[in-house]
This record gives sequence, structure tokens and C-alpha cells, in this order.
Amino acid sequence: MAMLPLLLALVHGALLRAAASEVAGSCPSDTSEEPSASSLADLIVSEDEDELPLHLLQRRQKRRVKEYREAMKASAGEEASSKARWPPPPFDFEDSGTKYSAFIEDNEESRPPPLTPMVVRSSPKRRRSLDLHFNAVMASCGSRLSDPSRCTKAVEQSSKKVFVQLHFEARTDETVPPLTNKEAKSFEDRFQELVLGDSKRVMLKSTKSEQYAGWKSLVQNGYMAMRPVVPVALTNEINKLNETGASSWTATYDASFIKVSVAKGKSKLGFTMSKEEEEQMKNDTLSMLQEDLKQFSEEELSKSAYSQYFDVRENWPECKPVTTHVRYQTCNNCWSHSTALITESRLCIQTHGRFNGPQAWLSQSFIAACRTDGHDYCNGGSGLLGFRTVSRWGVPTGGPDYRGNIQAGVQTCYPQVLPHDTQVHCPGACSPYTRYPRKLDQDLFYVQYEPRALHPVGSQVPYLVKKALMTEGPILLGMRIYQDFYAYQSGIYRPVKKSWNLYMGGHAVTGMGFGPGYILAINSWSESWGIRGAFHVAPDAIDFGYFLPGRPLGALGGSPYPMPLPRSR
Ligand SMILES: *[C@@H]1O[C@H](CO)[C@@H](O)[C@H](O)[C@H]1NC(C)=O
Ligand SMILES: *[C@@H]1O[C@H](CO)[C@@H](O)[C@H](O)[C@H]1NC(C)=O
Repeated sequence: MAMLPLLLALVHGALLRAAASEVAGSCPSDTSEEPSASSLADLIVSEDEDELPLHLLQRRQKRRVKEYREAMKASAGEEASSKARWPPPPFDFEDSGTKYSAFIEDNEESRPPPLTPMVVRSSPKRRRSLDLHFNAVMASCGSRLSDPSRCTKAVEQSSKKVFVQLHFEARTDETVPPLTNKEAKSFEDRFQELVLGDSKRVMLKSTKSEQYAGWKSLVQNGYMAMRPVVPVALTNEINKLNETGASSWTATYDASFIKVSVAKGKSKLGFTMSKEEEEQMKNDTLSMLQEDLKQFSEEELSKSAYSQYFDVRENWPECKPVTTHVRYQTCNNCWSHSTALITESRLCIQTHGRFNGPQAWLSQSFIAACRTDGHDYCNGGSGLLGFRTVSRWGVPTGGPDYRGNIQAGVQTCYPQVLPHDTQVHCPGACSPYTRYPRKLDQDLFYVQYEPRALHPVGSQVPYLVKKALMTEGPILLGMRIYQDFYAYQSGIYRPVKKSWNLYMGGHAVTGMGFGPGYILAINSWSESWGIRGAFHVAPDAIDFGYFLPGRPLGALGGSPYPMPLPRSR
């Protein structure tokens, strides 16, 4: 028994190193959106900064706050004109003005895998080579002397034809279900806008073969990226399967799906793990479990040791105002939303309900902006990143609403930033847009996590997971997300096996309990999604695994934390 903590600490160290090396293994869409070198250098926490104590780092960042204030001021003006709604509909990204151009990068590192050879298949007859379309574009745009308006017209015309052809192929290959006319129309519009915006860049490449490769990747990837996030046919299929008993959940079609592309849908995710890390986590879990087995008595290992149903929110009713929080994620930082909910819930549980009240929100934006891996605010992160960040810097209070919840009389230090603020720096002060009376350093909640990552291999994992939920509170779950997840309404989710239910990416959500055949989880897509923001998921769909924060230290001898301020009015 005495050896166990040491062993865990060693394994944990290995996991942390794995997380630190994630920079290299993050997904291509992350690397493709890196800002220019100078601004990137400004944003990342450099090696020396990483060694500085918090107050020095904060001093250094004071100047960044100024920048941030200016940005906030600029955006506050825009915000006032758009009508404030809370909670927002699940897939209203509040950036309807966003253009799709430059969405697809094709620098060396992020170039997609070799494209399928453009063979003209014998059947069906209408399959044609994309070369013809490319040649038509080249004829009008290929030389530097080309007339720009003639070129634009040629791209416009060819993009229409290319869309029809790619759609025809995708239907034949069943990577896209039948679409309604309205769906197809807005899909085509998005595709055309993308191609028009990016074809100029492609045509500026120096050799014809580069132009060709760039154009082909633009139209093929663009087609995949601009598909509707959830076609009506998909929700119909799921509900049909449920009626015949072949699926355990029901779906709902949200009217906003029609204008949301797959690419935008992906921005609601943000859990990253490379194949190597996954392999490592599997190995570590398997060796760890040998030791963990000793932790359990015979009785504990029998299923009956655990209740059938468990809900963190009901088990600690005094903390319900905190554990029932549902956040609204606007870019790829699900991991920080989950970490914030886990941390505030556990603070409440550990302080026997003292960390509580309408202002007991911790700042998701601070966690994402001060991430210890040096990536940008909106980039994906690993399952341990949030726990590492909170352990390193602490975390101040921060409402889930960029309006600071001022209207609701709720004051916090660093509320969630505006949806279109994607370049947020680690703040050195509370937000200038709240009237929060405490300074940042008086408001930091220091929590020392000892996180563990558990791959869902091995029969003991469910016991460790249940034990953590029952004794400590919420945990972080890593899932692979398919298109159908966006339409979840009720029941036990597991992805439906359809060739056109495509993989979207990794996602971090918060485990809040369990029941027969499912884990109860909270998403960060507002209360308008799922069961008021919650869902039930089959354990086999939690395929990246479980990230247990471990017990925060220092909570045993009374509370070392500054408590949230009482409500001001
Ligand atoms: C269909 O979905 C509902 C949840 O919406 C679930 O309760 C029911 O069990 C599902 N049907 C089957 C056959 O699994
Ligand atoms: C995991 O274990 C397998 C089998 O023991 C081994 O072949 C593999 O190299 C290990 N992977 C890692 C990343 O340690």
C-alpha cells in the first residue's frame, strides 16, 4: 500500500511529459491556424516565463492587459448592437459575418494526405475528371496578366460545376446522406464562398503543379468542411433506429443546423491526443492497474459495492448551485470549460458547501488563456492540461458570460471573454469590464491537483471512475465525437454506424455520475443542447478515457481559499 502513491506519482510524471510533448502531436487544424511568428512569440509562455513566479509573470503581462482592454472596448461596441440572449441556441456561433476564406491552409506540415487519384470511373457515367474544371479556371486565371473579373467569373462558374460533381461522388460513396434542397443550397453557398476566397491564393503559386495540387485540395477539403454539421437525414435515421430498437437514444433537429458547417461544428470540440499518447496512456494504465487492484477489497471489487445510480449534483445537495453549471463554448477549448466546472464543484464539495452561491464560478477564460503548454486560447488541449494549469497558477472567479453577469448582480474577476476574442493573453488583472472589488491576486483559488489519466482498458477502470465520482466529485472525460452527437436529445449516446456519420474530433466533457449502462456527463454547449446541457453516454463511447483530477490538497484543515463574494444586490 505504501508504495502506491510513489508509483502513481511516477506514472503521473510520465503522463505529464506525454502531455507536454503534445505540441508536436496536435491535430493539423491547430497548426494550420498559427499566427505569424512575431505574434506567436508574444503569445506563448516562453521557457523563462514558465520558470517565473506568478507575480513576475503578471507584471510582465500588465502591458498585455492594456492591449486586451482596447480589444474589449472595440468589441463591446459591436456587442451592444447585437441583441443579448442567454442561453444562446446551441449552434449560434454569434459570428455570422465570418467569411470562410483562407480556411484551408496548405503549407508543408499541414498538407492533407495524398488525394485520391483522379481516375474517371466507368460507372456512373457522370463522373468526370476534376482536371477539366481546373483547366477552365487556369485558362482565365493562370497568368499574372489575367483579368481579375474574368478570373472571378471563371472560378464562380467552375465552383458550381465542381460542387455538383463532388456532391455526386460523395453520394455515390455514401459519405454524405441525401440532403434537402435547402440544405444543399446553403452547403453550396458556403462552398462557393470558400473557393472564391481561397482560389486567388492558390493561383498565385509559382508552378502549375503546385497550383493544381492547391486547387484540388481546396475543392476537395472545402467540400468536406462545408457540409452541414447535421443533415436532417441523420436525425431521421437515428430516430428510426430508436423506434426499431437498434439505437438507445433519440435525436432532435435544430433549425440552426442548416447554416452550420462541419468546420464550424468542429470548433465546438477541442480535446487532443496523438496516437502515441493514446498508446502510452494505455500502457501506463495497464501497469498502473496491477497496483491499483490492491487498493480494492474483495467487497469493493464486486459490482454490488457501488450503487446503480449516482449523481454528484444530488449527492452533495448543498453544492447544487455550483455543480449544475452549464457553460457555453465558443471555440476549441472544451478542456478548459470542463476543468472550470470540475474545479468549482470540487471546491464546493471540499469546503462542505462554503464555496457557493451565484458568484461561485471559476474563470474558464483564465484557464484557457494561461494554459501551461503555450498554445493559443482557442486551441485544443489534452485531458490533463486544465488540471496542470490550475495547479500552476490558481484560478480566479469568472462568470460564464462575457457580459460579466452584471445584469444579474453577479460579479466575478475574469468572466468568459467575447466569442470572437480568439487571441486572449494570460491576464495580469481582473477584467476591466466588471466592477469586481478584489484584485486578481486576492482572488486566485490555488488547487494542487494530482491528476491521473486512465485509458478505458482493463476491468478496474470503471471501479476507479465510480469511486472518484462518489468520493471526490466530477471528472473529465475524453470522447471521439461524430456528427450525430450534435443532435443528441435523450437516451444513452453511442455513435450510429453509418458511413456518412463522420468523425468530427476529440471532445472533453465533465463526468457527473452514472447509471445502469451509462455515465452521466455535462457538455459545454449551453442548456439548449441535450438534457438541459447534460447527456447519458455509453462507456464504450468514452474512448479516449478518463482524467481524474485527484483530491485537491490543503482542503482538509479548514478552507485556505478566498470565498466568492456575497451577492452585491
Ligand atoms: C429510444 O430512446 C429513448 C431515449 O430518448 C430511450 O429511453 C429508449 O430506450 C430508446 N429505445 C431503445 C430501444 O433503446
Ligand atoms: C506499449 O506496449 C506495447 C506492448 O507491450 C509496446 O509494444 C509498445 O511499444 C508500448 N508503447 C508505448 C508508447 O510505450
